[in-house]
Amino acid sequence: MDCKRNENKTQTTTRKITSKVKKLYIETFGCQMNVKDSEHIIAELSDEYEITQNPENADLILLNTCSVREKPVQKLFSELGALNKKNPNAKFGVCGCTASHMGKEIIKRAPFVSFVLGARNVSRIKEALNTPKAVITDLDYDETTYVFKNTRKNPYKDFINIMVGCDKKCSYCIVPKTRGKELSIPMDLIIGQIEKLAAEGVKEITLLGQNVNNYGKRFSVSHPKVDFTDLLREVSKIDGIERIRFTSPHPLHADDRFLEEFANNPKICKHIHFPLQSGSTKLLKAMRRGYSKEWFLNRCEIIRQIPDVSITTDIIVGFPGESEEDFEETMDVLEKVRFEQIFSFVYSPRPLTEAADMPNQVDKQVAKERLYRLQKRHAEILDEIAKNQIGKIYKVLIEEPGMGKSDNFFTVKIPQKDKYLGEIVDVKITNANKHTLSGEVVK
Ligand code: 5AD
Ligand code: SF4
Repeated sequence: MDCKRNENKTQTTTRKITSKVKKLYIETFGCQMNVKDSEHIIAELSDEYEITQNPENADLILLNTCSVREKPVQKLFSELGALNKKNPNAKFGVCGCTASHMGKEIIKRAPFVSFVLGARNVSRIKEALNTPKAVITDLDYDETTYVFKNTRKNPYKDFINIMVGCDKKCSYCIVPKTRGKELSIPMDLIIGQIEKLAAEGVKEITLLGQNVNNYGKRFSVSHPKVDFTDLLREVSKIDGIERIRFTSPHPLHADDRFLEEFANNPKICKHIHFPLQSGSTKLLKAMRRGYSKEWFLNRCEIIRQIPDVSITTDIIVGFPGESEEDFEETMDVLEKVRFEQIFSFVYSPRPLTEAADMPNQVDKQVAKERLYRLQKRHAEILDEIAKNQIGKIYKVLIEEPGMGKSDNFFTVKIPQKDKYLGEIVDVKITNANKHTLSGEVVK
C-alpha cells in the first residue's frame, strides 16, 4: 500500500447528472486506492444514481472503508449509526477493506446494512445492490481486465490503477488480507485508458498500486514481459500527458534502472513517496520489509542528487520490540533524508497479521510520546525546508482557481483566481508556510 493515508473521510463530489432519479451519498475513508474505487463505484452506478452531498435525502448510502489501523474501523460503526439515525429509509452498503475482512460480521453488528462489498470486488457493485444481504468478499476475484467507466473530479488530472492486491507480507499490515494477491493490469489497457484521458484534456496522470515498482510480476492473462520502468516509458510517449506521478513504490524494488528513469524522464514529476516504516534494520526485519536502513539511505542519497526532488514517507512508531535505540535509528533517518512530508502512525495491531501476536508490544503511552517527538522534529525540519523554497521557480499545474501543485508536490497558491486554470506555469515562490507556498507567475 504504502501510499499516503488520510483517515479522514472524503466526501466525493462529482459532476451532477441531472436526469437521474435516485440519490447516492458516499463517504470514502483511507487511501488513494479507496478514493479511486469510490469513483469507479459512482461511475458504475451513474445510469441510476446521482451524487448528493446530503445523507438525509439519499436513497443509497455507501461507506468505502479502510482497515489499515484500528481507529477507522471504530469510526465506521459510529458513522453508520449516525447516518442511520439521520436517514433510516436509505439503503446502506459497506464497501472497501473493512468489508473484505469483516464480511457478514458487519451486517451482524449493523443489521440495517443491506450489503457488504470487498475492496477486490468493486466491479460487482450492481450485483451487491440487487442481492438482498449480499456479502461479496472474494479475494481471488480478478477484475484486472474489467474496464470501469470513468468519472473524474478534476478535468486536468486523473488517477489510474495499474495493479490490484499486494504480495508482500509486511508483518503489521492487513492489506494483503483485504485486497488479495498482487495482479498487474495489462499494459495495453492502461495505455488505452490514459490515451483516452489525454484526448479529454487530462495533463497529469498518477499511476496507483500497493507496490507500483513491482508492476509486471504477474498478470492473469498472457502478457509480454514488462516492468514498471517499461510502463513509465510507454506512458510518457502519450501526447498530451505532460506529468506522470505514481504511488507508492517499495524501497526494496527501487533498483538503479527505476531510479535512473525517475531521474531522467522529464515527464515524471520529481516527487517520490518512499515508505520507510522504521529506521532500525532490526525492526525492518521483524516487519518483513526486505531492506535495511543502509539500503534505504543509499537509495535516498541517489534520489537526492535530482535537483529540487521531494521525498515523502510513511513511518510507524511503537512496532513490537521497538526499543529507544530502534526509535533513535528512525530519528537518524529523518535527520539524514529530511523528508518533505511524513505520514506517521502509532503501530496498531490488526487482526490476521503476524505482528499482532508478537511479544514485546510497546506501551501505547511510550509509542505516543515517540510519535510526538518524531512529528515535532519533523515540523522543525519542514520550517527550514519551507524557508529554502523562497526564490525558487517551480512548474505548477493550476488545478483549481488560484492553486496548484508543483512538480515536486508542494501546494502553490497564486493571486490570480481567474487565470491559468489547467495550465502549467512557472511560479516564483515568494512566501512559504510548511507545505503551502505562494508566489507569482513568471511565465
Ligand atoms: N499500524 C500502524 N500503521 C500502519 N500502516 C500499515 N499498517 C499499519 C498498522 N498496523 C501504515 C504504514 C503504511 C501506511 C499506509 O499505513 O506506514 O505505509
Ligand atoms: Fe504496503 Fe506492506 Fe501492506 Fe503490502 S503488506 S500494502 S507493501 S505495507
